[in-house]
Amino acid sequence: MDAARSLLDLDQRRREISSQLDPAQRSALGQFLTPTATARFMAGLLHFSGNASAQLLDPGAGIGALSAAATARWELGDRAAPLSITCYEIERTFRLPLQATLAGLGAPYQVVHDDFIEAAVLASLRGERPFTHVILNPPYKKIATGGRHRALLRKLGLETSNLYAGFLASAVALSASHAQIVAIIPRSWMNGLYFKPFRYWLLHRVAITHIHIFDRRDRAFADDRVLQENVILKLSVGADQGEVEISASSDDSFHDLRRRTVPFNEVVTPGDEELFVHIPTTDAESIPSLPGNSLRELGLDVCTGPVVDFRLRVHLHMQPDSGDAPLLYSTHFSNGHLEWPKAGSKPNAIAINENTRRWLMPAGTYVLTRRFTSKEEKRRVVAYLLPEDALADKKLIGFENHLNVFHALKHGLDNHIARGLCAYLNSQAVDDYFRTFSGHTQVNATDLRRLRYPSLDQLKQMGKVHAEEDTGSVADTRRYRNAKTTTK
Ligand SMILES: C[S@@+](CC[C@H](N)C(=O)[O-])C[C@H]1O[C@@H](n2cnc3c(N)ncnc32)[C@H](O)[C@@H]1O
Repeated sequence: MDAARSLLDLDQRRREISSQLDPAQRSALGQFLTPTATARFMAGLLHFSGNASAQLLDPGAGIGALSAAATARWELGDRAAPLSITCYEIERTFRLPLQATLAGLGAPYQVVHDDFIEAAVLASLRGERPFTHVILNPPYKKIATGGRHRALLRKLGLETSNLYAGFLASAVALSASHAQIVAIIPRSWMNGLYFKPFRYWLLHRVAITHIHIFDRRDRAFADDRVLQENVILKLSVGADQGEVEISASSDDSFHDLRRRTVPFNEVVTPGDEELFVHIPTTDAESIPSLPGNSLRELGLDVCTGPVVDFRLRVHLHMQPDSGDAPLLYSTHFSNGHLEWPKAGSKPNAIAINENTRRWLMPAGTYVLTRRFTSKEEKRRVVAYLLPEDALADKKLIGFENHLNVFHALKHGLDNHIARGLCAYLNSQAVDDYFRTFSGHTQVNATDLRRLRYPSLDQLKQMGKVHAEEDTGSVADTRRYRNAKTTTK
């Protein structure tokens, strides 16, 4: 049987075998097998040169869908140069089906039933770098801080808390110079603090040549109901970084594939110490760009709401007492406007005393954004205005930890600036831009510091317009659709 034919019945076997797996083990080993269409797309990113032999690595091979797809890709060439396949797979249940898949491919293969990370780290320390092509869908799982994988990966100079980063790094460590690596992994490594060491490790060893993104985050592993935003990456080991091809499709049928090539500085901003990896949109018309000021340049900052409610539970009150400070959650903003106190499940107030005072902020005008949006919500950045006069008789305010708080040296903002800032944060331009570098529904203070903002004069101007119309709340989300052009 050839590889293309073997791929045809792999989808059926994948569904059958997946349904037989022990759910706990499945989640512990991250056993979500790649659907054939995605495997084919990934393999299509590999290039096999006519006259050089290819050594393919498939770490965490499952039942061999990626090896089969890569071999089918290799068959499309003139096959003058031989292909050999090495698979690593730790799961016993997959042994027979994996053997069966590989035996049908017609290329020499070996299956190693050891822990891939351990084997790879040891081989790489012996100087072995045999692979010219790697295709992988690694397990996604946290690595325990004191665990064996953590210690092994440290030998490669990598500190990471997730198995998928460890798998990818181990694959890089075993790759020959200019090897091609195609991987489907979560998007979470591209931003955020935890993955910073991994970004440094990776981007100093590989060039990114292709990034594919699915418009809908539940589409890559739809059969398994995996709600993870995934990206497909193609990397070239040790190569000079050039332009990056960006592609997108709404789902894993790839029927509406869009492609665009961008300079690397649209993917990683020059001088960005965080090395955040952006995914520019494939729609050239709507490439988001923002005005030029950092929050710090404006004399403003943003912090996470200081009141962690479960730590201060004994000081919280459903009904405010006269000596209390208001305690604000996002639920206090319905339709963007403050409704306080509010009957419901959340406390409305926090006692002012020596245990709570340092978590409270002076009363004033603030702009707040929600740290968490649900996956159903259209917008990631949702901002609320808290005008000073809304809580006029209060001296201190508690902001709960699920909010981010924009402030000026820990005090409130000028009224017009705050209104302008709120409208700006609720603009389409900000939301579009935010999505280019954030793959999850969380909006952290670090993310908000990374945005660029209009000047104080511009914010004031925007705020005045809104004050006249008495808006500036989340309700007018789309008003600054063209903020990128009007505020430059
Ligand atoms: C996300 S699945 C992908 C399987 C396959 N590559 C595919 O795309 O269909 C990850 C695979 O890695 C295997 N695995 C997990 N931890 C492993 C380890 N430490 N060493 C080798 N394989 C491992 C799991 O059993 C699982 O089959």
